[in-house]
Amino acid sequence: MKNFTYYNPTKLIFGKGQLEQLKTELPQYGKKVLLVYGGGSIKRNGLYDEVVSLLNDMDVTLFELSGVEPNPRISTARKGVDICKSEGIEFILAVGGGSVIDCAKLIAAGAKYDGDAWDLVTKKARAKEALPFGTVLTLAATGSEMNSGSVITNWETKEKYGWGSPATFPRFSILDPVNTFTVPRDQTVYGIVDMMSHVFEHYFHLEENTLMQDRMCESLLLTVMETAPKLINDLENYEHRATILYNGTMALNGMLSMGYQGDWATHNIEHAVSAVYDIPHGGGLAILFPNWMKHNLQVKPERFKQLAIRVFGVDPTGKTAEEVGLEGIEKLRQFWNSIGAPSRLADYDIDDSQLEVMADKAMINGEFGRFKKLKHEDVLAIYRASL
Ligand code: NZQ
Ligand code: ZN
Repeated sequence: MKNFTYYNPTKLIFGKGQLEQLKTELPQYGKKVLLVYGGGSIKRNGLYDEVVSLLNDMDVTLFELSGVEPNPRISTARKGVDICKSEGIEFILAVGGGSVIDCAKLIAAGAKYDGDAWDLVTKKARAKEALPFGTVLTLAATGSEMNSGSVITNWETKEKYGWGSPATFPRFSILDPVNTFTVPRDQTVYGIVDMMSHVFEHYFHLEENTLMQDRMCESLLLTVMETAPKLINDLENYEHRATILYNGTMALNGMLSMGYQGDWATHNIEHAVSAVYDIPHGGGLAILFPNWMKHNLQVKPERFKQLAIRVFGVDPTGKTAEEVGLEGIEKLRQFWNSIGAPSRLADYDIDDSQLEVMADKAMINGEFGRFKKLKHEDVLAIYRASL
């Protein structure tokens, strides 16, 4: 385990009826508020009305940016930055899933930056400060509600990158499981795959003596795998929604990765796919992660064996570490298939015509991945295995 400093300033407000807490949290930051949301789910399920009614009670001057896309685009974030700058916005409230929150993060940082917000995403410039912002989360998946990361797409250049800064943690995030009841089954599954993938990104590292961290990761995976099949057949079950929502946040708020750094190659490989084909992030991960695992099984078979035994219940008797590890990977594939996740790029009508383009995009900053440094040929092999 390496030395570490853990810092997470986001106030997490969890549970039924907690939206009311907006009244205590928001006023301390100002009166001019930009409400950021997506393509209309919050209007259809009534959350928009609830939020606006609370904001009206607080006597705020309200501005709105709607239409944030899944895989949020720089063009939309720029619109938000313009509103902030021209109207003197003091606080941003993001109501939605990871895409809305990620977009709000860039708007918050872009509002305090003189150049084009895309500079912050490409790391041409570093976000030193940001407008304060809070979130009302409506979809369990990314962990963006309690981390400082953001992933933005430039649809013109077909680029999608993650960026972040200590200035882009939400001040507070309100998580009411009821607000996730209307998430359709497919999006629920993508979210489940995404949070499990965050754990896998942590889990595959080369650090020694991470006994507690391993157990925490395994515990999260076991909990999600126990709950997911029940939830997808009972989408308005409060307890199951609460379990999944809590796990999604814990999977990527830094709690699981103290003292080591995870791999994160598969996310990079997936972002290159969704940059070109605009597919859901969790859907892409479901296709790619088992193939990343198979490709890297040899790096440290014992690690895969541990996962296979502890999480997937594989019986190791008479088998090599690699055989046990492989069986675990197959069980992961079966589990994701069983809840309806996609398993091949063909499920999104993706053929082999853009594999080189995607691999080039994934390689933009050179070799990547901490468990195993991937080269261009590795990325291509993982894409080919995923066709
Ligand atoms: O746009 P609306 O109408 O709100 O509909 C959304 C969208 O179509 C819908 N939805 C959200 N909440 C709903 C709902 N529908 C019904 N009822 C509700 N309560 O779901 C669709 C997907 O939403 P989106 O926000 O795109 O999903 P998700 O939360 O999975 O976010 C995906 C984005 O986050 C990035 C991904 O790359 C992708 O761009 N990531 C961000 C991370 C971070 N900031 O830490 C880490 C992740 O690994 C990930 O890369
Ligand atoms: Zn993810």
